[in-house]
Amino acid sequence: MSSCPFHQPFFPKPLHNKASLFFTFFKKRRSWLDGLYERSYSMKMGRVKMPGLDLHVINQPDLVHRVLVDEVKEFPKNQLLGHLLEPLLGESIFTTNGDQWKKQREMLNPSFEMTRISHVFGLMNDAVKEMKLRLLGDGAEHRLDIDPEMTYVTADIIFRTILSSRLDPQTAIKIIEAFVTFQEETARTAMRTMFKIPEWLWFLTGESKRIKAGNEIRDLLASIIRPRYDAAHANNTGEEKDILASLLQAVDADNGERFSFEEILDQVAMLFLAGHETSASALTWAIYLLSLYPDIQERAYQEVIGITGMGEFDPIQIKQMELVTNIFKETLRLYPPVGFFARENSKDTVMRDKTIAKGSSVVVSPWLIHRHSEFWDNPNGFNPDRFNDPQSIQKDTYLPFGMGARICIGASFAMQEAVLILSTIVRDFTIELEEDFVPDVVGRLTVRSANGMRVILKRRVAV
Ligand code: HEM
Repeated sequence: MSSCPFHQPFFPKPLHNKASLFFTFFKKRRSWLDGLYERSYSMKMGRVKMPGLDLHVINQPDLVHRVLVDEVKEFPKNQLLGHLLEPLLGESIFTTNGDQWKKQREMLNPSFEMTRISHVFGLMNDAVKEMKLRLLGDGAEHRLDIDPEMTYVTADIIFRTILSSRLDPQTAIKIIEAFVTFQEETARTAMRTMFKIPEWLWFLTGESKRIKAGNEIRDLLASIIRPRYDAAHANNTGEEKDILASLLQAVDADNGERFSFEEILDQVAMLFLAGHETSASALTWAIYLLSLYPDIQERAYQEVIGITGMGEFDPIQIKQMELVTNIFKETLRLYPPVGFFARENSKDTVMRDKTIAKGSSVVVSPWLIHRHSEFWDNPNGFNPDRFNDPQSIQKDTYLPFGMGARICIGASFAMQEAVLILSTIVRDFTIELEEDFVPDVVGRLTVRSANGMRVILKRRVAV
């Protein structure tokens, strides 16, 4: 395994013992990762009881398979998440269940078929080329927080591929700021809900800030969708060949009806959120990990140069980048952007001889499973080469994109975009972490670094 002479990838030291309720309320409001304790990373199953919540954490692979695949209908998505995301996403596919989810998935599937075609790759690459120009800075060395850049490029890619619209810097800043507010306040709202703090007291908190931030993003998306929706309903289909075009044409197979404006806005808001926030989180962590391991960075550089030289990237070359792909897979293992999946138990059931009552919450956490001492060799270490032999990965222990019917619809899109972005960066720059910088890992909607990611990019050659 390659060595890291200076650092080990950072992760928050777990508490020695399970936290008290008092501690949980005041500490976990910031990040659910702060409530984890040592045994969380070795247990098969655990339980957390709070005034508004009875929650079972499932780490055992066959039980994970039961919840996410075999009995997916018995374990629908937890409505708390839907409620929390509602100001931004409305009723989107990420949180709906049953027939409503099925209809939305069938309508979205064709849009994702079209993301496989090279047209989308060209749009991605345009955004990545602009990212590269921003990263160059003014001289041979550029010191920056890479996190907003990763958010910008992934949001820009989503804008271009969904809406055929380039994201300009002012709008990007507005959206990023609104979304940071939404995330921070949502973590607090989640804790208030779990501790059954009455809603009439919420006016003392940041709830109105949260709703305002959600509305700001929705209003912006609505202003782009509206003219195209009106045109499509006047039978003017337009020139664009993007995901919105496919959604505007999609019809419900049962009744031949099209999506309403609100339904389209909900799905676009969701694709925007799920499509950039997750990728941005993972890419920032990938850059962090590369900065700790110069030898892996060098190997990645050699791979990219060997495949593309200094020429343009194409989708076939992206598929050939085995090491860069494995770097991203290992990043998703250590810092899975969606750190937990929350489900609800729809009937009394038994797991490991324990009865789990109907109505309780069941949580599967890739964060815990990916670092579980029984499933992984050196679980907290960074070793992309472990993915050289997929057979060595124990079944149902690697699930950054989920599993079963609710698996991420954008997984191949995300892999392609990430390998393109990382290949572009390692080909043109060496990456170092700024002196004494330590990221502050927090679990919000995604796993993020609260203090950003300060790096030094040095140009390899005159790019
Ligand atoms: C590294 C990037 C990404 C990661 C780690 C990721 C992860 C996930 C996970 C774990 C789920 C399932 C959650 C659960 O079961 O509760 C999910 C669902 C979903 N993701 Fe992603 N995602 C990524 C990128 C994307 C992209 C780029 C898009 C779209 C452009 C996307 C769209 C969706 C959608 C629509 C769902 C809901 C699927 C359903 O419930 O039927 N994701 N994602």
